[in-house]
Amino acid sequence: MSVNQSLKPITIKINNSGHIEIGGCDSVELAKKYGTPLYVIDEKTLRGICRDYKEAFKDYPNIKMMYASKALCTSAITRILDEEGFGFDTVSQGEIYTVYKSGVDMSKVLFNGNNKSRKEIELALELKVGRFSVDNFFEAELLNKIAQEKGVNADILLRLTPGIECHTHEYIQTGQIDSKFGFDLTQVDKIVELIKNKYKNLTLKGVHAHIGSQIFELKSFSDEVEILIEEIERINKKFGLELDEMNIGGGLGVKYTEYDCPPDVKDLAKAVAEAMNKHSVKMPTIYIEPGRSIISTAGVTLYTVGSSKEVDINGVTKRYVAVDGGMADNPRPSMYQAEYVAEVANKPNEPKNEKVTIAGRYCESGDILINEIELPKLEQGDIICVYNTGAYNYSMASNYNRVEKPAMVLVNSAQSDIIVNRESLDDLISHDNIPSRLRKE
Ligand code: LLP
Repeated sequence: MSVNQSLKPITIKINNSGHIEIGGCDSVELAKKYGTPLYVIDEKTLRGICRDYKEAFKDYPNIKMMYASKALCTSAITRILDEEGFGFDTVSQGEIYTVYKSGVDMSKVLFNGNNKSRKEIELALELKVGRFSVDNFFEAELLNKIAQEKGVNADILLRLTPGIECHTHEYIQTGQIDSKFGFDLTQVDKIVELIKNKYKNLTLKGVHAHIGSQIFELKSFSDEVEILIEEIERINKKFGLELDEMNIGGGLGVKYTEYDCPPDVKDLAKAVAEAMNKHSVKMPTIYIEPGRSIISTAGVTLYTVGSSKEVDINGVTKRYVAVDGGMADNPRPSMYQAEYVAEVANKPNEPKNEKVTIAGRYCESGDILINEIELPKLEQGDIICVYNTGAYNYSMASNYNRVEKPAMVLVNSAQSDIIVNRESLDDLISHDNIPSRLRKE
């Protein structure tokens, strides 16, 4: 079983105090020491999935693992991924800068995105990122122009839309034809011709696709590999090129609830190999860009229980219990109807005999973290531990309602270290400016 198939971090257990322990740390103590809401990242789980990926793909001669940093991009997380030998898929100058400042060899970085600005392209060229994934005609022209001005060359992949519809939430599907991302297959010849004949500062290395996120069906990946390899063969033949790089994106799912059955990373590697073996071409360099499956399982969020309310719905009592976080630290339930599992960190062994709805603290009816979950009877001050919050939680967090973003700690072998400081009230106003005519003397 690979780590992405686990509902909880691999170090989770119940300790002698009867509390949930993660990375050897008592979660109730973590909540006390650092406050809540608190993002907790378990280093062993994170390194475990990195090793699962490396092991699964070890027979590939040319495999490049790139962590999709959009899932969670902080300096300490970047350091761990770098130590594990991963490169980085980045989509903004903020991600590029974070990775750069963490000491990463920038040739291992790919810059991706459907509307890269001049400023971002300039920075990426100055820092010498290894690959640009060129998304559209406008970008190809702009990138070539800026590279020309700087007298440098950019090595590129072409982002393609392979026309694959996979079964996941509509908002996180990206490979279908009606998508804002990439060139559709009818546009490929035109862009290759432009690169070959006009864009002299671009060197085409290969193709790139990403078909979606939270995918459970391996067939979607093998279909994608086949389409990409056929496209490489076709382009090489038609244009006399020697493209030999194929980036298959990310997308492998994780287990948010007992009902989710994501595939083992080994089976993903097998599916990719089988699809490749149907073709007699020289094995290209394969890039794989997982985000969620790398970091999701390693993360939990701790919240403190506050108010509660009971409503009578046609004679049935429904209990809402509010916690001190919600849609600003985890927007996924309200954005994608995402489901999560939670336990009570200070009394995980007590019988789960109450059905409750865990509500957030934000001023919106839709701010519900978990709808109807069976938990021990909740009281004010209890600590709730929500699982699988490592990916797309902090990275999509906001300051809605002018609430400070939570802190993040890294736990390992009974040690806990702050890797993101909790925002302060002064942080919240630090970017504000009052024009002099409005200032109060
Ligand atoms: N590569 C590319 C080009 C991508 O666009 C993405 C994700 C990935 C790799 C990583 O995919 P992953 O392995 O994480 O599935 N905010 C949404 C997910 C959006 C994913 C966008 N692209 C969510 O919370 O579910």
